[in-house]
Amino acid sequence: MKKEIVTSGSSVISKKKKESLEAYLGSCVGVTLVDQHADVGGLLHLLLPEATGTDMSFQPESYATTGMPHFLKKLIDAGASKERLEACMAGGALIGPVSDHDLSLDVGGRTAQVVQVYLENQGIPINDSETGGYSGRKISLDLYHWNTTIEPTWQIERPSLSPFQTDVVFNIDEAVQRVKPIPQVALKVIRMIHRDDYTMKEVGSEIRQDQVISGRVLTLCNSAVMGLKTVVDSIDRALILIGEKRLLKLVVTASVKSLFPQSSQGYSLCKGGIFQHSIGTALIAQELAVFTKKAAPDIAYTAGLLHDIGKIPMDQVMAANVPFFYRSTQEKGAELCEAEKLKFGIDHTEAGRQLGKIWALPNNLINVIANHHYPETATEDKELVTLVYLADLLMSKFQAHYELDQINTEKLLHRLNLLDLNPDHLPILIDLIPKNIFQSASMPI
Ligand SMILES: [Fe+2]
Ligand SMILES: [Fe+2]
Repeated sequence: MKKEIVTSGSSVISKKKKESLEAYLGSCVGVTLVDQHADVGGLLHLLLPEATGTDMSFQPESYATTGMPHFLKKLIDAGASKERLEACMAGGALIGPVSDHDLSLDVGGRTAQVVQVYLENQGIPINDSETGGYSGRKISLDLYHWNTTIEPTWQIERPSLSPFQTDVVFNIDEAVQRVKPIPQVALKVIRMIHRDDYTMKEVGSEIRQDQVISGRVLTLCNSAVMGLKTVVDSIDRALILIGEKRLLKLVVTASVKSLFPQSSQGYSLCKGGIFQHSIGTALIAQELAVFTKKAAPDIAYTAGLLHDIGKIPMDQVMAANVPFFYRSTQEKGAELCEAEKLKFGIDHTEAGRQLGKIWALPNNLINVIANHHYPETATEDKELVTLVYLADLLMSKFQAHYELDQINTEKLLHRLNLLDLNPDHLPILIDLIPKNIFQSASMPI
C-alpha cells in the first residue's frame, strides 16, 4: 500500500483510498481525526504546544494551539462532521537518557496536553492515545479502513539484537584508512569558508575543475526547491543568481553526499540515513549560530554537515559484522558513544577525529567532530562544538524519522549556559528548526 509521510508542522487530509499516512514521532505529537461516515480523515504532525513568536514563516500546524483548530476546519471543509469525528494521538516522548533537565525539554508532554484538552472541549472522543514515555513512535492512518496504528519505531522490521559487549576485535582504524578521500573541491571550499578571505573567482575556478560537482551543483540550482525562474547553465550564472554563501554551501553539500553510506544495516536505518541527518543538523546549527551569534553561520553549517563523519567507517564495519547494532542501542536506550566503545573499542567521535586528520580538515571542524556528544571535553572552539551538540539534540528529538540518537543531556543546563542560553530558550530554539526540511528536494538552500 502506498504510504505518505506527514512531516512536522503539517497535516494531510484525505478521502477514502487505498493508501496510508504516517508520521514518525520523537518529542512531536501526531493526531489522527476520522469521520468514517463521510469517509474523510487526516493526520496532523505537531512540533510545539504554542508559538514562541520567533517563527518568521509562521506555520499554524506546527503548534497545538493553532494547529488543532486549523486541522479541524480543514476536515470540516472536506466534508467531515465534528459530531462524528474520532481521534487517536501519539508521541510527546522524552527521547534518550533522561536527566532532570530533560523536563525542560518535555515540550512533547505539554503539546499532548494541549491536544487532549482541545479534543475534550470540542467533544471529540479519543479512541487511542500513547503519549509520553521514552521511545519514538510511528503513527499511521489507513485511509481505506480508517484504522490508526501506533507502534514504537524500533519494532518496525524488528532486528535480532546483539549484545553490546564482544570478544571480537574490530579494526576501525583500517576502516578509517579505507574511506575514500573527501573531494578536493569540497576541502578547498571548506578551507575558504574558514579563511573568509576567498574571492569568488577563486571558488568558481575550483568548482569548474570538477565536472561531477559542477553538474550536481547545477542540478540543485535548477531544482524546484530553489524556485529560480531562469535555467542556470553555468557556475558563473549560479553565483549571480543564488549568491556566494548559498553556492558555497551547495558545493560542500553536493560534494560530501557520495561519502555517506546508504547501507540499510548500519546507522542508516532511518530515511535517508546519515546524509539527511547531517543536512538537518547543519541547517539547525546555522539557525542557532544566527540566533546566538556564537559562530559564523556558514562555519556552523559546515560543522553540522560533517559532525558525524566518524559514522562512515564505523558504518562499514557495523553493517558487515553487527547488523542492527544501532537500532539495538535505541531499543535499550543506551547512549550511543558508550555502546560503540563497548562493541568496537572506539566511538564515532574518535573515528571521525582520525578521519578529519587524514582529510586535513580545519582544526575547529575536527574539534566539533571529536567532541560533539560531550562538548565540555573540547579544549578549544567550545561554543561551536556546543552549538552543533545542540543542533544534533534538537534533530534527534524533533526530526525523529531522520535518525534517533540517544544523546546525553546530563549537563544540558551547563551546555546551554555556554551559549548564554537557559532552559526558557528551549521552545524558541525548537521553533528555529527549519520547517519541512526534507519536504521538497531534500537539499539545503
Ligand atoms: Fe554523533
Ligand atoms: Fe548526529
